[in-house]
Amino acid sequence: MVSTTKEDLARARAILDEGGLVAIPTETVYGLAARAFDARAVASIFERKGRPRFDPLIVHVAEVGELGRVARSRPAAVDLLADRFWPGPLTLVLPKAEEVPALVSAGLDSVGVRVPDHPLTRELLSAVGPLAAPSANRFGRVSPTTVEHVRAELGEEPEGPFVLDGGPCRTGLESTVLSLLDDRPRLLRPGGVTLEELEAVLGPVESGVTPATEAPESPGQLASHYAPRTPIVPVTEAELAGRARPEAGLLCLRRPPSVEGWGVVEELSATGDLVEAASRLFAALHRLDASGLMEIAVLPVPEEGLGRAIADRLRRAAVRTRTS
Ligand code: TXA
Ligand code: MG
Repeated sequence: MVSTTKEDLARARAILDEGGLVAIPTETVYGLAARAFDARAVASIFERKGRPRFDPLIVHVAEVGELGRVARSRPAAVDLLADRFWPGPLTLVLPKAEEVPALVSAGLDSVGVRVPDHPLTRELLSAVGPLAAPSANRFGRVSPTTVEHVRAELGEEPEGPFVLDGGPCRTGLESTVLSLLDDRPRLLRPGGVTLEELEAVLGPVESGVTPATEAPESPGQLASHYAPRTPIVPVTEAELAGRARPEAGLLCLRRPPSVEGWGVVEELSATGDLVEAASRLFAALHRLDASGLMEIAVLPVPEEGLGRAIADRLRRAAVRTRTS
């Protein structure tokens, strides 16, 4: 029995408005949601999930009319697909609108969007606007399809998030992720909408294609990640003075005592707060990458909490720029 009341919805709304997280029901699986335009709230999703790296999140909207707030263009196929499959388990990858924080899409220039098919969540979305939400499980675990699963995964309140009880999820399998970035639609993750159903609407869809830039290290993670073009070089504090030059940028959690000689310095959080740092990481990398530097030196971040995800992302960026 679902016993969700108007008060529960109002509470969910208040928590989200204040930058908090709420576990929301969808027809596929429960999601752990934050307001999509609140970079700091989005960063705390990764912290709650214990995700050791940043993966792009899906943005949920109340209806197709809201797309313009999160996507900067609307390929022709969108209307066909929305008519047929929304609300429902289909996520479309589209060019990202500037206002969507970079962390939502892990630095990519695209954004995954869908209209979920659950009355409670759609009511919430109409009230608070777009919500970014991954599945509400801890990293590496199975997606939750009941309120009990969510509580077992993320804890009971107050440690765990408030869960909006929408009953068991109908589909119980995540959404299909389809990229509309290229001429031909590309299946990135199989899910609730089948390839056959998509092809009946669109004609041929590319599938089983893994972008060469990304090994399929875990199912559903076939997206190519943003990699800066400027070489990333890990440095220690002791090496700073020797490496500083006008053609080099420095990325750090907190500004070291002296930053003399660096072309550009990006400090992620003046107080050393890892949630704030995570929410700024990709935007900082983009700014550095656009500054015409010869290299970006990166100081270590503490490998705890979100620091592990930040460090992982920076390590991967360093390897990527070294080999490509
Ligand atoms: O059914 C679902 O999709 C559930 C509910 C809560 O909506 N959400 C979900 O989220 O499964 P998550 O974070 O566990 O999986 C999101 C998938 C990942 O495979 C991610 O790589 C892909 O969507 N994705 C999101 N944005 C993307 C983008 N801009 N480009 C490529 N892939 C993207
Ligand atoms: Mg997941």
